[in-house]
Amino acid sequence: MEMSRRQSPNLAIFLMSTVLIQHFTVVLSIGVNYGTLGDNLPQPAQVAQFLKEKTFIDRIKLFDVNPDILRAFAGTGILVTVTVPNGEIPNLTDVRYARRWINVNIKPFYPQTKINYIAVGNEILHWGPQELIDKLVTAMRSLHHALSLSGINDIKVSSPHSLGILASSQPPSTARFRSGWDKGTLAPMLQFHRETKSPFMVNPYPYFGYSPKMANFALFRPNRGYFDRFTNKTYTNMFDMLMDAVYMSMRRLGYGDVDIVAAETGWPSLGETFEPQCTVENAASYNGGLLRHVSSGAGTPLMPGRKFETYIFGLFNENQKSGSLAEKNFGLFRPDFTPVYDIGIMRGGPVQPHPTPSPALPAAPSKGKKWCVPNPKPATQHCRPT
Ligand SMILES: *[C@@H]1O[C@H](CO)[C@@H](O)[C@H](O)[C@H]1NC(C)=O
Ligand SMILES: *[C@@H]1O[C@H](CO)[C@@H](O)[C@H](O)[C@H]1NC(C)=O
Repeated sequence: MEMSRRQSPNLAIFLMSTVLIQHFTVVLSIGVNYGTLGDNLPQPAQVAQFLKEKTFIDRIKLFDVNPDILRAFAGTGILVTVTVPNGEIPNLTDVRYARRWINVNIKPFYPQTKINYIAVGNEILHWGPQELIDKLVTAMRSLHHALSLSGINDIKVSSPHSLGILASSQPPSTARFRSGWDKGTLAPMLQFHRETKSPFMVNPYPYFGYSPKMANFALFRPNRGYFDRFTNKTYTNMFDMLMDAVYMSMRRLGYGDVDIVAAETGWPSLGETFEPQCTVENAASYNGGLLRHVSSGAGTPLMPGRKFETYIFGLFNENQKSGSLAEKNFGLFRPDFTPVYDIGIMRGGPVQPHPTPSPALPAAPSKGKKWCVPNPKPATQHCRPT
């Protein structure tokens, strides 16, 4: 009796901590964009093993359909998003071509590799050309149709958008899509998403809306908040504000029920002297805050309790990306797998960040095309070459 009475609090604490630990491990889940513009990056098989064994990263997004990477992730259980190159969009409007495309790019790897999304192009509305914009939704429908003809029903089709699709985002309650794109492309696309239960993909980057005055708000640090007087909601971080701006714009067209995926977001850990916001501290603060926030399931002020699949950009520092030093230093990891900073993403507790900074150094300019991510405010654009 004495014994058990003495032991029960210990037992209770033990059970409670077990529950907490299990809760913690179950809840932490995050995606990363696995870009490959580096001449020093590890082999895909090493990357797959590292992510599976050492990190809480349970999904990746590729900017292409790299067969070596798809093969390497077979059997890992890690979810994989592939991206259709922009140039394929016109041909993919033909279902026969779409079936061939799936036979060549998806079938050899599916279902051993858990491909769950096909992203059709990248930020097409923002970058054009108009011919691709006009054909985008038809290509998405055609790919979806080809997938079902191939008996594949668990791969969803989407297309990531920069926040240049928004005409305004502040306050979020008044946000709307740019006219022209709203009814012309986005409403038919959202209709497609509703019919096929696929998500609308957006790339919200508080980084590109950075201003020193809003630094804490952008970086998930304590701040005074932003009050939306039309909804009486207070925003404590810019990520939520951008997500709610997207949500309100969707709702305005009648599609508030469609799921949203944050397909790209991140913060560089190093930049040029004119990019003083690019520091290890800021990158850790943003990506760490993001990981905790999206894993918590709290949602946003206008979407309470909703979870958003979120993909950090990016996995590695990429020394062959063109553009400023910041572009090459978005990575959570260096090519040798050492974390650039610790955000609690490693299994088995924190790992000491590399003691000395070894940034990705500029490489010869790559031939990659430029693509920009606009400031949430439409007037300015921040070029983001890739
Ligand atoms: C589109 O299809 C045409 C005709 O089959 C082919 O010549 C062309 O190379 C294709 N384009 C791409 C980007 O695959
Ligand atoms: C916001 O609060 C004000 C003042 O309390 C109130 O008059 C108004 O109806 C509220 N608006 C909404 C949308 O809740």
